Amino acid sequence: MSTLLPARSSSLWLDKAGRPVYPPLDVDDDADVAVVGAGIVGLTTAVLLARTGRRVVVLDRRGVGAVTSGNTTAKVTVLHGLRYARITRKRGPSAARAYAEANTAGLRWLVEEARLAGAAVESAAAYTYVTNPRLVPQIEHALRAAGVDGTITSQTGLPFDVAAAVMVADQAQFDPVPHLDRLASEVVAAGGAVHEGTHVVAARAGSPCEVATADGHTVRAERVVLATGLPFADRGLFFARLEPMRSYGIALPLEGAAPDGMFLSADPMTRSVRTAVGADGTRYLVVGGEGHKVGQGSPTLPRQERLARWALEHFPVAEVTHRWSAQDYRPADLLPYIGAAWHGTDRVLTATGFDKWGMTNGTAAALALAGLVRGEPLPWSDAFAAHRMTVRASAESVAAMNTDVAVHLAAGWLRPDASRRPPSEGEGLVERRMVTKVARSRVDGFDYAVCATCTHLGGIVGWNDAEQTWDCPLHGSRFAPDGTVLEGPATRPLGVVRNG
Ligand code: FES
Repeated sequence: MSTLLPARSSSLWLDKAGRPVYPPLDVDDDADVAVVGAGIVGLTTAVLLARTGRRVVVLDRRGVGAVTSGNTTAKVTVLHGLRYARITRKRGPSAARAYAEANTAGLRWLVEEARLAGAAVESAAAYTYVTNPRLVPQIEHALRAAGVDGTITSQTGLPFDVAAAVMVADQAQFDPVPHLDRLASEVVAAGGAVHEGTHVVAARAGSPCEVATADGHTVRAERVVLATGLPFADRGLFFARLEPMRSYGIALPLEGAAPDGMFLSADPMTRSVRTAVGADGTRYLVVGGEGHKVGQGSPTLPRQERLARWALEHFPVAEVTHRWSAQDYRPADLLPYIGAAWHGTDRVLTATGFDKWGMTNGTAAALALAGLVRGEPLPWSDAFAAHRMTVRASAESVAAMNTDVAVHLAAGWLRPDASRRPPSEGEGLVERRMVTKVARSRVDGFDYAVCATCTHLGGIVGWNDAEQTWDCPLHGSRFAPDGTVLEGPATRPLGVVRNG
């Protein structure tokens, strides 16, 4: 185990006592809208629809904010690195403008709501910077493509030299968990329901639609919203159009002044920096980065160690008190997918593909989804249509993604087996037994052995030592050591294998 990092993974935002707890669904229920997923998209959509008099039932396998929304860096900004320039290259300037418009709407709604509710939202400038002078033209291009009010500067206040930065004023940073908790309580106060620990295993479009849980209960509703990262009932084949990405965060109590603002490097080594006030009133430095495709690349714990060493080198901090990671999905053409989850029906909706910018993208997606349910689509939502035609640049990206999937499918089966020694504490090993592969791990003194073949489409899972999970390199499904599904698109657990 690392000496730089705390033993357990837990985000600064989720490390709170006394949060509301919602009971699992234990009866059948009827609603106007059933929302699957209690993150920022699901809960914001639910509140927007509850405010129009609809009864909304929200179901989540884990809990409010437990998956991606409670594990971000929670920057609320329209400045998303070099994204506008990249969208312009792939989809043209009108798509970049739609992206800016959507995220501006998301930012405004989120900040206004959080402030009305008395939440601590700090105004902050957002910076995207480069330290390599050769990358300055990219920064300038990004600013031109963004179409948002920004300036080029080299004065950032960061404790190292910066070649250039784009700065956008009047952005915000906050703690997302009180915001999510408040949204959930409003859904319930409006006569709806929130059910945590409720695993939805099937959805059916119809009149009414139905969602079915693993415990055998059903919610009937006129519309269903799948807000689960990757839609779990994936007849729209989103898994083939999205790359699952993992990224890491750490928090360190500040022992001196930190620069004023929110920062993201556009250098090859990505670093995200902001400050935050913890539940105990301590001011923290929050550092993020080290993103990679799920289940691919080097072990994950050293990624958090690299973040820690970088923070200790540059800022007045002495120890890491929190470490965490989150998963998000990168769309082929960089624009999120928002709209009909399946071809041929608008009764089941989804939103996905925020690529680590879920605070504003996720809120914008909720505004768009609520507009679709009300029959009042927003002016910019066409650009995000979930089944939009793919332009050539995006088609090439989709092809590259699926080539990568094929390569990792083969590599998983061909990879040499671990020696058949028992795993040590916190370790996971994959070994061949007869014609199958077995994933063995030891966590908290317990030994586990499960089938290493992902129940989605047969990828061979790999061990994530930072989270102590089995992650699939093909489409990003994640499983607990005992095989329980943590994140989709897989819906079935890994089969248990007799240890030995
Ligand atoms: Fe698709 Fe594992 S997530 S094969």
